[in-house]
Amino acid sequence: MRIGVLTGGGDCPGLNAVIRAIVRKGVNDYGYEFVGFRDGWRGPLENRTTPLQVENVRGILPRGGTILRSSRTNPYKVDGGVETVRTNLKDQGVDALIAIGGEDTLGVAKKLTDDGIPVVGVPKTIDNDLGATDYTFGFDTAVNIATEAIDRLHTTAESHHRCVVVEVMGRHAGWIALHSGLAGGANMILVPEKRFTVADVVKNVESRFRTDFSPIVVVAEGAQPVEGEMVTQNSDRDAFGHVRLGGIGQWLSDRIEQETGKESRAVVLGHVQRGGTPSAFDRVLATRFGLHAIGAVHDGAYGTMVALRGTEIARVSLEEATAELKTVPEGRLREAEVFFG
Ligand code: F6P
Repeated sequence: MRIGVLTGGGDCPGLNAVIRAIVRKGVNDYGYEFVGFRDGWRGPLENRTTPLQVENVRGILPRGGTILRSSRTNPYKVDGGVETVRTNLKDQGVDALIAIGGEDTLGVAKKLTDDGIPVVGVPKTIDNDLGATDYTFGFDTAVNIATEAIDRLHTTAESHHRCVVVEVMGRHAGWIALHSGLAGGANMILVPEKRFTVADVVKNVESRFRTDFSPIVVVAEGAQPVEGEMVTQNSDRDAFGHVRLGGIGQWLSDRIEQETGKESRAVVLGHVQRGGTPSAFDRVLATRFGLHAIGAVHDGAYGTMVALRGTEIARVSLEEATAELKTVPEGRLREAEVFFG
């Protein structure tokens, strides 16, 4: 059997660990052959391939990014895209595909399965917002990077009696903001799930300044003020309809300076959160996902995605996996609110 593997959407620490596990188990246990498709769905669409053998995956376990590269290509947005994918897979002698990606990549995987192309999905996103799995790999690494940044920002903010607003990733879900904010002792955490008022932020910032400690406000890039809109960098949309976010940190920092008369700085962590080596937790989770994904192919369980449920790896349908995003529940926010102000 010959299996195609691709990574789609925003990259994420741990992708290479998944690829390595798929190939190692696939070759050693089942005698499968592999072909790597480059640049997400652009690979099968434009026949961009790369060899994928045990030799190609040696040494990649701790490496960030993806050796297969990635893109946000959507074959359903290209005229005749699905038929081209089907023909190219046939020409490559590919019997099944493993697609490693987030909601967009897995949404395409689900549609392709419905259209008769056998796909197994592996969930990835630093945002941790996929509904069917307890955690996605990449999230733990991103939270550790953001927490370390917050720790560092505390000391410089205190030296200068400044507020620092830390903007972290999180388009629809505030998981990175919530976890790094809790771990880093943030003065306030702002997430896309709950609109905030500048008055509330100012109240908490002023209260923290009164203790002679400096406020650190953690804001997810998708968070929105009650009195304004989501801040975007421009109005362009990608093939999945997403605008490029970013800028809420600076906007809020300016408002804090205006309202409190104290100095404030904005720090945007951006892609630093997605780059570099995965944490040990993410390496283990990614490896287990890879092992179970090739197991699913072996069982012919197409149209499914591997998922973490508690400590076990389960199989869920791609339909369930892409049905709804996992956002931060009200109760988790209330827990964090104890430490605001
Ligand atoms: O989906 C993951 C993510 O990191 C989001 O948090 C962020 O909005 C987006 O990707 C940014 O992606 P890029 O700048 O690579 O297009």
